[in-house]
Amino acid sequence: MDKFLIEGGHRLEGTLRISGAKNAALPAMAAALLTPETVRLKNIPRVRDIVTMTQLLAHMDVRVEAPEVPPTDLIIEGRKVSGAEAPYELVRTMRASILTLGPLVGRLGYARVSLPGGCAIGARPIDLHLKALEQMGAHITTEHGYVEARVAGKGRLRGGHIVFEKITVTGTENVLMAAALAEGETWIENAAREPEVTDLAELLIQMGAKIEGVGTATLRVHGVSALHGTTHTIIPDRIEAGTFLVAGAITGGELVLDGCAPQHLSAVLAKLAETGVEIHEEAPDRLRVRGARKLVAADVTTEEYPGFATDMQAQYMAVATQADGASVITETIFENRFMHASEMARMGANISIEGRQAVVRGPAPLTGTSVIASDLRASASLVLAGLVARGETLVDRVYHIDRGYARIEEKLSSVGARIRRVR
Ligand code: UD1
Repeated sequence: MDKFLIEGGHRLEGTLRISGAKNAALPAMAAALLTPETVRLKNIPRVRDIVTMTQLLAHMDVRVEAPEVPPTDLIIEGRKVSGAEAPYELVRTMRASILTLGPLVGRLGYARVSLPGGCAIGARPIDLHLKALEQMGAHITTEHGYVEARVAGKGRLRGGHIVFEKITVTGTENVLMAAALAEGETWIENAAREPEVTDLAELLIQMGAKIEGVGTATLRVHGVSALHGTTHTIIPDRIEAGTFLVAGAITGGELVLDGCAPQHLSAVLAKLAETGVEIHEEAPDRLRVRGARKLVAADVTTEEYPGFATDMQAQYMAVATQADGASVITETIFENRFMHASEMARMGANISIEGRQAVVRGPAPLTGTSVIASDLRASASLVLAGLVARGETLVDRVYHIDRGYARIEEKLSSVGARIRRVR
């Protein structure tokens, strides 16, 4: 199993190019299931989850081609989609496989997707996805670990009035894709407003879908009978950008992030500014971050977009360990998302946790040791901690980080980090 060996204490300096957003690329790939025509996606990140989604589409006889090596574009053609099944072997490695449910049932009137089950950061049910599809006329059964959604006579879903009890990103995306081909009009209320949802809506509109209210909490979809092919560029990854902002900030370095979308990072930029980090928007797609001589503590609460992303909480904890004073970090989205805290504590961080709140007291001098990554963003936070720790940090189970970060060790090495992959 791959590990990262990091020698801490080096300032990062230079320019990094931000990759396409994994969480926008995955629903975009699933959306290609909605049309027999060719969908070309640009700015695809080189991460493991994209490989898994490719395998999932191939399992359904969808053609997925990457014209270049390394692949940054994908050409997807689902002329005929067969099987309409997402098997457990693929779903268990990537929960986002559930994103195939909406488009499959929307186009074929039938889908069978393995239940994703729990994951390290919490129970993460899909009840809201299923309830919404039921309201649109799908008959749902769960048996033998699979969800089966079926429209009578394999016909079309019908429009519905969906009010999400809780904001769900992939739930909103699933319903949006299903509604694009449904008969009649669908209202989605309390919809997620994440930039990745907006990117998907824009792709669907380019494919011929009729969607109003894009970027707001109320989406209105007029179903159409067919969608067509298109070419679409995936938005930059705001979580990768946020992670590198933290890397620049805590190493006291100076980094330029190219090809990013500062407008998607407002909450993170505001919070880092509060801790004393200097960030300048040099161009509409370029940020420069300079670490402060002294970081100061600031409290943070995770929220749905446009609030502070739960996917940046672990990385922010690395900042808090280096900031002067007590930072209270409140996690409101997932119930079990502080697993990085105990590993950071083993490196010398002063963190106490009570329920959904972590109190981090700093600055704490960190020292390198062996730590275990428990999930994607937790592993990123441990790499960040390793960058400031004295001595060597060995981060185990980096397959988690490979799921969502494109060659992070190469990118960090290119700006002066001492990090290498070992087996
Ligand atoms: C997506 C992101 C993930 C991010 C999360 C929150 C992708 C592929 N993944 O995950 O990186 O951390 O949004 O921003 O885009 N819930 C239910 N029932 C449901 C669905 C969700 O109770 O049917 C709950 C979840 O348990 C959680 C909350 O709603 O507490 C938000 O989850 P959700 O937005 O659905 O997360 P994902 O879409 O899985």
